[in-house]
Amino acid sequence: MLKKYVMGNWKLQGNLADNKALIEGLRAELPTLDARVGMAVCPVAPYIPQVKELTAGSGISVGAQDVSEFAKGAYTGEMAAGMLKDVGVEFVLVGHSERRTYHGENSAQIARKAQAVIGAGLVPVVCIGESLDERNAGQTKAVLTEQLDALFAVVGTDNGNIVIAYEPRWAIGTGVSATTEQIADVHTFLRDYLTKRSAAVAGLPILYGGSMNGANAASIAALPNVDGGLIGSAALKPAEFAAIYKALVASVA
Ligand code: 13P
Repeated sequence: MLKKYVMGNWKLQGNLADNKALIEGLRAELPTLDARVGMAVCPVAPYIPQVKELTAGSGISVGAQDVSEFAKGAYTGEMAAGMLKDVGVEFVLVGHSERRTYHGENSAQIARKAQAVIGAGLVPVVCIGESLDERNAGQTKAVLTEQLDALFAVVGTDNGNIVIAYEPRWAIGTGVSATTEQIADVHTFLRDYLTKRSAAVAGLPILYGGSMNGANAASIAALPNVDGGLIGSAALKPAEFAAIYKALVASVA
C-alpha cells in the first residue's frame, strides 16, 4: 500500500455518459500518475465495471462507497466485499458520515464492515469525524477516539492495510473546509493515537475530506500528517480533481 492517496467519492451521482467524460477528462489531465501518490475513484456500484474499463492501464484504482458486513446470504440489497473484489475493486469506503446520518450506521457496525473488507483482501477507507455540535462542545477528540477504538476492537491493531479518512461532518458538502489549523490539530492527534496503538497502524495514511478543492488543496496537502484527500464534489470535475492530485504530488516532492 502507498502512503499518500487522493480518492474521489462520487456519492449518488453519475451515469454512463458522465462517467465516461469524467474519466476520459481525468486521463487527459493526468496522462501518468506519480508512483508515490495513489488515486482511486468510487463510483455508484452499478458503474463499477464501466469505470474499471475506463480506467484500465491508467493506474487509477476503483473503490466502492459501502459494503455489507456479511459475506453472503439473505441480505437483500447488500453487496459483499468478496463480490466487490471479484469485479476489481481495491478500496471500500466504510462509515461515511452520510451512512452514519441517513442509514443509522454506528461505529460497531462500521468496524464489522471494515473487517469484512479486510477479510476479502481489500483496503477499507474508514471515515471518522465529528458533528458541529460535538466540535462546539469540545468533544472532537473524544468522538474520534470512540470511533477508532470501536474500529480497532474489531479489526485489531496488526493490520497496516487500512486508510483513515478524517471528515468533519460540518465541512462535508458545505463549501467550507476545516481551517489548516483545525486539520493539523486533528491529524496530529490521530497520528499520536495510531502511534500509541501499535507499530503496524502507526503509519496508516490519514486523508482529509470536507470541501477540499483545487484552491485549498496545496495548503492542506502541505500539513504534517495529512496523507491525501477524500474528495466529494470536486472529484466530479476532472481539472479540479487533477489539481488536487498535483498538489499532493507537490507535497511529497
Ligand atoms: P465534499 O468534498 O463535497 O465536501 O465531500 C467530501 C466527502 O464527503 C468525501 O467523502
